[in-house]
Amino acid sequence: MSDAPSLASPLTLPSGLRLSNRLVKSAMSEGLATDDGRPGERLERLYARWSRGGAGLLLTGNVMVDARYLERCGNPILDARAELDAFRRFARAGKSHGSAMIAQISHPGRQVNRFVAPEPLAPSEGPAVKVLAAFGRPRAMNESEIEDAIDRFARTASLARACDFDGVQIHAAHGYLVSQFLSPLVNRRPDRWGGSLENRARFLVEIVRATRRATARDFTIGVKLNSADFQRGGFGEDEAVRVIGMLGDEGIDFLEISGGNYESMALFGLDESGKRAKTSTRAREAYFLDFAKTARAHARMPVLLTGGMRTRAGMDEALASGAVDLIGLARPLCVAPDLPRDLIERRVDRAPAVEPPAFGLASLDPAAAPAWYCAQIARMGEGLEPDLALGARLNAIRYVANDALRGPRRRRAGLARA
Ligand SMILES: Cc1cc2nc3c(=O)[nH]c(=O)nc-3n(C[C@H](O)[C@H](O)[C@H](O)COP(=O)(O)O)c2cc1C
Repeated sequence: MSDAPSLASPLTLPSGLRLSNRLVKSAMSEGLATDDGRPGERLERLYARWSRGGAGLLLTGNVMVDARYLERCGNPILDARAELDAFRRFARAGKSHGSAMIAQISHPGRQVNRFVAPEPLAPSEGPAVKVLAAFGRPRAMNESEIEDAIDRFARTASLARACDFDGVQIHAAHGYLVSQFLSPLVNRRPDRWGGSLENRARFLVEIVRATRRATARDFTIGVKLNSADFQRGGFGEDEAVRVIGMLGDEGIDFLEISGGNYESMALFGLDESGKRAKTSTRAREAYFLDFAKTARAHARMPVLLTGGMRTRAGMDEALASGAVDLIGLARPLCVAPDLPRDLIERRVDRAPAVEPPAFGLASLDPAAAPAWYCAQIARMGEGLEPDLALGARLNAIRYVANDALRGPRRRRAGLARA
């Protein structure tokens, strides 16, 4: 008999937070909050549904720290103006069937589309994100804007604690602001925030420190980090391993490993041209397991692996390798919200094999799959079950139009303010 944990094994994080099993619902941006970022009944129904599905931990989608800079319209915004009771109800819904509930806190930096913010911030001035011509050219943050962003992460964390979330996850992956600071391609600052890896990681480390100061040792702080950006000259695995060492020194409570950004979609198992990556890693289902094995020697905190996990055998293998403590699931939970419980109770051996329909027009195909998953999320927010027969086109158009309509409306209404 091996001593390897099973999916059903509980895990206590360094913060003292006890997770009832090893399955985690990874962050997925829901787009269901109001224009001013208030979570409401749709998010409550959705998270109660996911909690009923049995995951030990639910990570929310991007919760924004600054109302001016959203990942998309409909993100919850937890800032000094937020209605805390609405966030309390959101947290309570996620915990309603025994899951722990952690808010993923985030700032998009240059990955904010022009409808939401025409003038994005980034560590350095540089080219716009090259996706659908939808992004403005970013300008470099000054020192006080950097300090302000750090304070905002800490304030959002402290508000999350006041609203009974079990913790926060700092989004340092997928090309958003923290990940931009880590990237030598995007961050070309000559000051203490750029250059050496220590300097590029300073923004993340300072956010972790400020977040801990603003909360408490029993409040869980996690970080989602890229194993690599998968771009030539970008943040790579050797640097990721060193950052993991730094995060260990800061005493974070868990690390989630992912990869890629808007321009290189490794997080979905795609290569730089948006095609399915033909790597042995993908063939073996867990996109970033090899990296997790490399990272284990440096990772003193529990490790959550997300990306492509689909079968109980693959998940058991990842846990048995000793490199991974928790298994993250995202897209499968849009179509099979009971999957965690069904896997743990051995009713099924794998996630349903689902391929969202393509749009059929190359320029809109990249939006079709996320839009389709978001439409399933929206159904659960309405109290409906997922519908595998949903089409691609209308949902992709709605998804793309969301920010084109709501972004200017938010700005006209004065909601995009500091
Ligand atoms: C619709 C959708 C929205 C997502 N939003 C987020 C997000 O807000 N934050 C995040 O860290 N990852 C986000 N992701 C990425 C997932 O957390 C996850 O890393 C990725 O989907 C790979 O896991 P999977 O193969 O289990 O889907 C999103 C994924 C999808 C499909």
